[in-house]
Amino acid sequence: MPTSDHIIELSVIVPTYNEHPNVIPMIESLDAALGEHRWEVIFVDDDSPDGTASQIREIAKRDPRVRVLQRVGRRGLSSAAIEGILASSAPFCAVIDGDLQHDEKLLATMLKTIKEEDLDVVSGSRYVEGGGLGDWQESRAKISKLATRLSRAVLHADLTDPMSGFFMIRRSTFEKRMRNLSGIGFKILLDIFASSKEPLRYRELPYEFRSRQAGESKLDSQAAWEYFMLLLDKLIGHIVPVRFVAFTLVGGVGVIVHMLTVWLMLNYTDSEFTIAQTTATLIAMTSNYAMNNILTYRDMRLTGWGWIKGWISFTLACSVGALGNIGIATYIFEQDTTWVWASLSGIIVGAVWNYAVTSVYTWKKPKAA
Ligand code: GDD
Ligand code: MN
Repeated sequence: MPTSDHIIELSVIVPTYNEHPNVIPMIESLDAALGEHRWEVIFVDDDSPDGTASQIREIAKRDPRVRVLQRVGRRGLSSAAIEGILASSAPFCAVIDGDLQHDEKLLATMLKTIKEEDLDVVSGSRYVEGGGLGDWQESRAKISKLATRLSRAVLHADLTDPMSGFFMIRRSTFEKRMRNLSGIGFKILLDIFASSKEPLRYRELPYEFRSRQAGESKLDSQAAWEYFMLLLDKLIGHIVPVRFVAFTLVGGVGVIVHMLTVWLMLNYTDSEFTIAQTTATLIAMTSNYAMNNILTYRDMRLTGWGWIKGWISFTLACSVGALGNIGIATYIFEQDTTWVWASLSGIIVGAVWNYAVTSVYTWKKPKAA
């Protein structure tokens, strides 16, 4: 029988993507910070090409405090944090970046505070007295502050740093909210707060954001789009799936691409209309596919052969969608409706069809948290 000495009190969840050089320093610094506590670390790695997961697995063979959850064909910091917490049974879970930019020395204080003050969440903040942004560039600091301001639209708390990815949460608190989480993008703390109707008992502790010593940041321009999707999901996700909104926006851009191609071909080549229309349809379908793959389905983006197969199924699905669109529009038009309504009905039917079919056949959706 295990004794109470073996029972884990704190699981530290570390999402990783290409953090090979940081793994050993990360475990060593957790050991230094939490040595006498009953803790474990669960790395959630999205099948990093640099072999982060197998490296951790090697260490886990010798150190029972170390575990790895390897996800294949998936991406996303938030969903990684959620699934890491779900893989743990400890009464308290912390989430911390795997690149040593968060201050792991704060973990012991976080644990003490959450227990003693009976809180739901304790988070690290760069904006309370004693905290700091480290060597962040002016531009990134500005973007972060703007994002913080926007978060007020969905947040039910007066957090100074809802963008923080460094926090500790009580398991019972997490379990009560986990079914409402969006799991989109980078901002899991914001997601948790925005998913709680009744206010959470929380405290922010200051920490100084460190500079990255090894590896690269994964935060790129698409992170802004994902952030926008997270906010939108929190605002209207209960009415319409936010992926459908993204899919429709991409479709709107596709119409512009289509028109532009036809116009260019008619004006600058001697193609006939049918040829121009056919070429434009193919180009618009392909650009819609590529945009959806990057924006709507970033968390399960297709690459290599998968990209080609996805393109084929997308094009087939949309061709059937187009037939449905024309059929419905013609039928409605023949019922003495104005062409605008007839046409719009066709577009809506086509869009819903395209979305539904491609979400099943092109991007096979593993049901997230
Ligand atoms: N599993 C998984 N999947 N992990 C990921 C992914 C992913 O798709 N993308 C990033 N990570 C991991 C990284 O390996 C790293 O351990 C951590 O998540 C943070 O990623 P960075 O790319 O280093 O993020 P950052 O330093 O630019 O941004 C951080 O800034 C915020 C402050 O506003 C985020 O990490 C937030 O956690 C932090 O609060
Ligand atoms: Mn980082």
